[in-house]
Amino acid sequence: MKNRKLKTSAKLLLFILLILLVIIVFLLFKKDDKKDTKKTNNNEQTENNNKKEKPSEPVKPKNKYEDGKYYLEKNLERYENYDNANPGLCRDEVIKRVNSGLDKTWYVDVEPTDLSKGNLVIVNKLHYVDQNFEPDNLVSMSGYGNGYLVKDAHDAYVELYNAAKADGMNLIITTSYRNYGFQSTLYYNYVNRDGQESADTYSARPGYSEHHTGLAVDLSTPSLTNAFTEFIYTDEYKWMQNNCYKYGFIQRYTDENQYITGYQPEAWHYRYVGKDVAKYIYENNITYEEYYAYFVEK
Ligand code: DAL
Ligand code: ZN
Repeated sequence: MKNRKLKTSAKLLLFILLILLVIIVFLLFKKDDKKDTKKTNNNEQTENNNKKEKPSEPVKPKNKYEDGKYYLEKNLERYENYDNANPGLCRDEVIKRVNSGLDKTWYVDVEPTDLSKGNLVIVNKLHYVDQNFEPDNLVSMSGYGNGYLVKDAHDAYVELYNAAKADGMNLIITTSYRNYGFQSTLYYNYVNRDGQESADTYSARPGYSEHHTGLAVDLSTPSLTNAFTEFIYTDEYKWMQNNCYKYGFIQRYTDENQYITGYQPEAWHYRYVGKDVAKYIYENNITYEEYYAYFVEK
């Protein structure tokens, strides 16, 4: 009987000891956990302190033009001046006009064009070529109409012509390369006929014509009474509108861009710029002035 009591007491003691052991182990783990959390907090604190120690970059206030698609930092002051002088225009219109040089005076604020741009050269009322300039690689357009184009434009035109022909179109070149003397005779005939102010809206002054670069071509189709003014009503014109960019050409003077180019629309005048550029201009509906300022000049 006594023995049994002893056994029961021993079992009880063992049980109590086990419980105590479990409690001790539990408490020890909890302590370690707390230590770890403290450590992490300390680390974060140190990181924050480090962050704070770094000198913060001064935040430059945004100007109202810089989110514009064709924004050019170098033109910022010109945007501001043009905007002040022409209140009410939206941001993108200010950028478009200034990039195209509308804050300058045509035939006054002029500069010789940068001929190193090759097929992407710009010639307009602000950029001219020298009187004696003659493009390299002029190739006769015989078989397609009058005159000469530079080799790349010639090759592209032949491709365009053949594609148009396959679609039943009959294109003919009325004029292509024109040198200074040719343009001078043309322009002053118009000045004598209509006066300079009027002539300037449809004819380039000598040195300022794209035809002088050998990259521009005037197109028509046989059998029109007026090869120029009637071209707009032809299927050939419609075909050019839908397809010319595929061969690297753009219609240079349109109704829409008259205030930028300074020329009345010319359904017949096409400029070679190469396939990629022509496609970009076609898809984004911009003038060559805008394209040149943003992608070529900059
Ligand atoms: N008719 C175009 C503008 C030229 O004379 O070049
Ligand atoms: Zn022309």
